[in-house]
Amino acid sequence: SVSLLGGADAAPIVLDATPARVPTTRRYLMCEPRHFTVEYAINPWMDPTRPTDTSLAVAQWTALKETYERLGHQVEVIEPAPGLPDMVFSANSGTVIDGRVLGAKFRAPERAAEADHFRRWFLANGYQDVVMPEITNEAEGDFTWTGKYLLAGTGFRTDPRAHAEAQEVLGVPVISLNLVDPRYYHLDVALFVLTEDLVAYYPDAFSVGSQEVLRRLYPDAILATASDAACLGLNAVSDGRHVVLPVEATALGEQVAARGFEPVYVDISELRASGGGPKCCTMELRG
Ligand code: ARG
Repeated sequence: SVSLLGGADAAPIVLDATPARVPTTRRYLMCEPRHFTVEYAINPWMDPTRPTDTSLAVAQWTALKETYERLGHQVEVIEPAPGLPDMVFSANSGTVIDGRVLGAKFRAPERAAEADHFRRWFLANGYQDVVMPEITNEAEGDFTWTGKYLLAGTGFRTDPRAHAEAQEVLGVPVISLNLVDPRYYHLDVALFVLTEDLVAYYPDAFSVGSQEVLRRLYPDAILATASDAACLGLNAVSDGRHVVLPVEATALGEQVAARGFEPVYVDISELRASGGGPKCCTMELRG
């Protein structure tokens, strides 16, 4: 903060550059990784020859869920289905804005059946406006709602034509962004939202033109380092004050702390073996 001297008798005027970061209570949908394994490879993180530890995945997921609950958030759960080892990544199965739901249509046949489990969950839980997409979209994997815009990734999973479909179904302005690095195959491993006007991202995950778009929209953005990105540090979840992120993403944690946020570290090493982090396990139910 900067102190300006007023008159001789005046109290110093303090200009604080860091706004108070006020959390808002969120509602999340999660899916226990009871059937978690890596049995196919649909992104460069996945190696089916390497054994996975399902009970460790469950323990890490439970700690993530308890972290949200400790922060005052409400967590709903959907029953995991056998034979769908990636169903833990609930963020990929729906985009919910103002109570309106756009479901998912997965690119990989291995994940296709997840979408209908979630569709049925929405219908059983009071959502009346549920639209299943015509065009491939992996929901919050590639769609990030800022409160103003739906930032929409494409390049590896979500079809660029799905951006127009999302705009039409959800009635929100969509900003298309091109992803170029296969390790960062979803938007939510390359960028996350801190507040309506502040995001953090890893520039090299985006095409040159998309980097320019991000600079125009978010001139004050937090730019993550290569090592923050490489531990899936950008797969973070913010409630406006707390930022839940992988324990290895320490430089990113320091950067968010310098902007007045509170980093909350979680260990998600086992889920990272499938290319996922905290955000992938967390679908936000807005309205
Ligand atoms: N194994 C999953 C896949 O490749 C991981 C998805 C992670 N989710 C995410 N939102 N990035 O589809």
